[in-house]
Amino acid sequence: MASEGLIPPHGGALINRINENGRLGPYRGDDPALVLTERQQCDLEMIAVGAMSPLTGFVNQADYDSICEKMTLADGTAWPIPITCAVDAITADGIRVGVKVALLDDDRRLLGMLTVEEKYPHDKTKQAELAFGTTETEHPGVGVLMSEGDVCLAGPIEVVCPKYDPDFAKYRLTPERTRARFTELGWKTAVGFQTRNPIHRAHEYLTKCALEICDGLLIHPLIGQTQAGDISADVRMTCYTTLIEKYYVPDRTELSVLPAAMRYAGPREAILHAILRQNYGCSHFIVGRDHAGVGTYYGTYDAQKIFEQLPAGNLKITTLNFEHSSWCKSCESMVSAKTCPHPGEDKIFLSGTKVRDMLSKGERPPIEFSRPEVADILIASMKS
Ligand code: ADX
Repeated sequence: MASEGLIPPHGGALINRINENGRLGPYRGDDPALVLTERQQCDLEMIAVGAMSPLTGFVNQADYDSICEKMTLADGTAWPIPITCAVDAITADGIRVGVKVALLDDDRRLLGMLTVEEKYPHDKTKQAELAFGTTETEHPGVGVLMSEGDVCLAGPIEVVCPKYDPDFAKYRLTPERTRARFTELGWKTAVGFQTRNPIHRAHEYLTKCALEICDGLLIHPLIGQTQAGDISADVRMTCYTTLIEKYYVPDRTELSVLPAAMRYAGPREAILHAILRQNYGCSHFIVGRDHAGVGTYYGTYDAQKIFEQLPAGNLKITTLNFEHSSWCKSCESMVSAKTCPHPGEDKIFLSGTKVRDMLSKGERPPIEFSRPEVADILIASMKS
């Protein structure tokens, strides 16, 4: 097997819900059809390619309740956030349990079919409280959740095309392909790095510290649905490729994209991110400060602590926890509170707002915060 010797997928087997022989293009069948939301399209692709193994489709009510309440599927397998296909009540009324529903993209092209095994009420308030820790719709993940329909359709999917005209096709490796790639490169261990931002010096520091104890590094930026205001995936990809070319060792570093939607669910999403990376073949996963957080909804290290609440041994991937890192002028290096005795004044800290402000004026942030090559790409993107 291509990925022999690597970490097993979550739940034991890599799922593949792609039917290579399906009919592609505009949907002309007689089955009921649904145009999926952006988030559902991201989830569909993630399930189909096995990134969400052991899920084979959208979750049923027993799993939904168990995920919300216990962070496991009904069978006890760790799973932190429900992956649902929610529709409005009128649409749900027109769909009977037992039928197949065609799942379409925005141009009404056929993505795949869902066999509806169950319909159940979408308890959005419960999910918001338990999975996001808030029901405030200002929270971008909760905002998307609350805009979804009131009925969930559950059942296995079969996908003919996870995405038409996919962005970054060259870098859109499926779990099967990242696993094969790691094996080809001779890596027994690989550390996965989740990001939704350009890689600044602190990010670079984490990845390189982690690389000191792993054979290889998978830089795995999330490129699915994000919130307005996040830097576009196009611009970020230019930052990643430029940085990797100049500052990373080629046969120790692999760049591939994660076509998942960002939920901003902080701690619970850190668990999801780790599960996804285990499926992609990573043995280790970086969790830094306020992982997948937004605003002030989560504590700085909540996303690290939450892993202790999972059933022991369920998740095979090892998390590598990092404290808040920054440049210290006295140490003249990247540091964290674990490695540097100097006071806060010695640290180069810039808020996101300050950085955006500098870049929009065409100013590079200090070299200790961001590599000039990355700053220049961001400055150019803001000008255009
Ligand atoms: S995230 O939503 O993907 O978590 P981001 O791209 O900013 O946002 O972070 C990627 C990873 O780097 C996360 O694990 C995050 O916790 C970590 N991280 C970001 N900045 C720092 C920092 N200064 N110190 C420590 N960890 C950090």
